[in-house]
Amino acid sequence: MYSGIFDSHAHYDDERFDPDRDEVIAALQNNGVCNVIDVGCNLETSQKAAALAQRHPFFYAAVGYHPHEAENFTEEDFSEITDMLRHPKVVALGEIGLDYHYDLSPRDIQMEVFDLQLTAAEKLDIPIIIHTREATQDTLKLLEKHNCRGVVHCYSGSAETAKILVKMGYHIGFTGVITFPNARKIIEACDIVPPDRILLETDCPYMAPVPFRGKRCWSPMIEKTAERVAQIKEMEPQALIDLARENTQRLFGIK
Ligand code: NI
Repeated sequence: MYSGIFDSHAHYDDERFDPDRDEVIAALQNNGVCNVIDVGCNLETSQKAAALAQRHPFFYAAVGYHPHEAENFTEEDFSEITDMLRHPKVVALGEIGLDYHYDLSPRDIQMEVFDLQLTAAEKLDIPIIIHTREATQDTLKLLEKHNCRGVVHCYSGSAETAKILVKMGYHIGFTGVITFPNARKIIEACDIVPPDRILLETDCPYMAPVPFRGKRCWSPMIEKTAERVAQIKEMEPQALIDLARENTQRLFGIK
């Protein structure tokens, strides 16, 4: 078993953890996990993420408007979200971005809400957690407009795009998707990302790695993702886990 796993992106606020959330969280530290960032997607889940961070000493939170939720954005809710960013255990604005795969909110509204959150992150000097899917050009366009720092989570783009993001100073987050049989493109991207820009994450309860695919995911399953990434980077899995933890701590200002 590995130790010192920092899960940089999880959704323990998700309803799939409603039946046994406390037991699951209580078991994390005995299964190699030292820290978790729970990430919100709208006001309600951001509040839940912040409450988890308040309650569990090893949890941190990110708060923001997911592109799926862009259509429901209101000034009032966003001012509550920016207020939450003042709490020392709320370490990032996220997840924010663009999703043209599901298109659950109109694209122009997604762009507007992403842009506005990038402006806020820049002003508040807080790192961002980016969700981008099939929206590379518009994502890069908006990121170039702002001077932010952060991570592109659950990376699914090309090596070419990863190169651009790394050059802009961004970190790249890898989930269990890198263990899937069709992960060739993600593996190529991982290959070019410098080790000091790699973050590990589950995106749980989603994205369980092979051999747990389809099951409810939780942070200890990161070891399968870490083993795959370590193989690509020609490192020992434990060394990769340690480096990814240090990268996460540095990016989000966690000691
Ligand atoms: Ni997520």
